[in-house]
Amino acid sequence: TSAAAAKQQPAAAKERPLPSMKPVTVMYGTEYGFSKEIAEKLCGLLKASGAIWPSLENMADHPEGYNFSKAQVVLMACSTQGDGVPPTEAREFCEWLFAGNSGSLAHLKFAVCALGDKSYTHFCRCGKQLDTALEASGAQRLVDRVDVNKEDWPVVDAWLSSVVAAVQGLALKTFADLGLATSGASEDKAAAPKKLGKSRPYYATVLALEGLCTLGSADDKNTIRMELDLGDSGLAYLPGDALGLYPTNDIKAVDELIRVMGASPSDVVPVPGWHYDESAGGTSHDGTMRLDLALTKCYDLRSPKPELLKLLVAELDAKHAAANGHANGHGNSGNQALRSALCDAAATETYLAPRHVVDVLLDGSPAKLTVPQVLSCLRQLQPRLYSISSSPLEDPCRVQVTVAEVKYLSLGKERIGVCSTMLSERLQVGSRVAVYVHKNPDFRLPPDASTPIIMVGPGTGLAPFRSFIMQRLLEQKLKTSDGSAVTPGEMVLYFGCRRSDQDYLYGDLLEDWSAENKITLFTAFSREQKHKVYVQNRLAESADLVWKLLQAGAHFYVCGDASSMAGAVEQALLKLVEERQDGGRAAAEAYLNILSNTGRYQRDVWY
Ligand code: 2AM
Repeated sequence: TSAAAAKQQPAAAKERPLPSMKPVTVMYGTEYGFSKEIAEKLCGLLKASGAIWPSLENMADHPEGYNFSKAQVVLMACSTQGDGVPPTEAREFCEWLFAGNSGSLAHLKFAVCALGDKSYTHFCRCGKQLDTALEASGAQRLVDRVDVNKEDWPVVDAWLSSVVAAVQGLALKTFADLGLATSGASEDKAAAPKKLGKSRPYYATVLALEGLCTLGSADDKNTIRMELDLGDSGLAYLPGDALGLYPTNDIKAVDELIRVMGASPSDVVPVPGWHYDESAGGTSHDGTMRLDLALTKCYDLRSPKPELLKLLVAELDAKHAAANGHANGHGNSGNQALRSALCDAAATETYLAPRHVVDVLLDGSPAKLTVPQVLSCLRQLQPRLYSISSSPLEDPCRVQVTVAEVKYLSLGKERIGVCSTMLSERLQVGSRVAVYVHKNPDFRLPPDASTPIIMVGPGTGLAPFRSFIMQRLLEQKLKTSDGSAVTPGEMVLYFGCRRSDQDYLYGDLLEDWSAENKITLFTAFSREQKHKVYVQNRLAESADLVWKLLQAGAHFYVCGDASSMAGAVEQALLKLVEERQDGGRAAAEAYLNILSNTGRYQRDVWY
């Protein structure tokens, strides 16, 4: 509602520019909030000069594009996701700009801060594309683009300083010169109800929760099938899409953190406006929450911001100074680990990676931070994405995901995956859970049902392929009944797991489909013999079939682990191509590139 939206508006939003100020547009496209932080910092720096009025725009709010006709300067911060795509909600804006829809931007100056992660193939691709698209539309680059690996603040800060200096050096027109109103006419627009999506999830009811594995010992991990009712939400999905799920934290982890902070669960804390719109379903709030609730629903209790280390060390130093050298101010061994972690960005990352917020606080003991200090160093609890494993043709109002439980040992403590254990331990049939559909246009069935498909999906990588196969079979059934059916393309599935009697996900269904010749099934049970057998081995053994289908126009799909499986499968694919056409390795790679560029080699892989 607009009342709730108004409540969430920070007080600063009500400030107005003076007609003598110069407008500058700052835009961000973000998945996890880092680009937004940068954009906000940039606005703060620009504002500090007193003469410039930055307006902050989220690309997500402009799916149909942005009118740059009155803008003089646009400064963008945008991240890149997965296989080189824009952030989920910025996608439409980016594609609009990439396609040259903005018209001539010859009047515009711009600068781009590209965020990314070097461990992915297409580092900072989206920021690079924005930079290129703005230039191609005639805009002039104010300062060079910077490509930032992860949260490298020193690199960001250097870019921010040069951008601010460059903007200050420009002879810009004022609001008055441009004939632009300085009243808040645009604020009414912001109060319009948002579409259901990542920032406004739907609270779906759990219809089924079912373990799919036969567990041998207590530390075996299960894989859960969860089915949800989409009710009258109108949420629609296609095979290949993912379901975004907002987790909550385990109450034990929340209690532990509250205890270590020396706080009380009933303390009331402000919750920043960045959290998704609660008025859609759960309890609405006035910008504050009980601490235990805030920690359960809003904050990530794992990877804290590096700022936490700095605050703790400053506190330790202060304590040390106050004790005037009586005690050993460097304290316990945790203190030492914490201090060394501050050496450089790499050391900070290595230190923080395995640690949760409580671990860091304990390392910093006896330094004590206030609750607001700690909260300022926490990140927002992010939704998790799971490939949808049902077909909308089964029932458009229901959606199903297949989720592997995550449990592991780290620093001598048992750690649990936040979202997967919510499914396996805290949710029940009838519970409600905040979800949205994450479109995945780069992972789609071929448009023509007669095109063969080859699917490689070990473990939960099977999920989207259950949806693909189901969709094709149901479509075929519908078309047979109305007489429009074509000969269906062959469907080949490579599935791998540990043992046929343990974690063979949807085993009965797959075996039935195979027995009825609906699919060609290859299974790799890695632990049923002395040596490992993996999907890529099965791929190599059936190379002739794969090659025959590829030549007939097949699409090749891989889903699952990116760290080793996806690479090993690609190598097996390259090898079989190399052995069957002239030109050696280079020609095989060129062949695969063509498949990829024509949408015939699609991957949905994760680390
Ligand atoms: P493993 O755990 O026995 O090594 C689903 O997780 C299946 O993927 C398991 O059978 C697992 O085998 C297998 N797997 C592990 N590493 C793999 C790799 N590099 N390539 C293909 N499959 C792999």
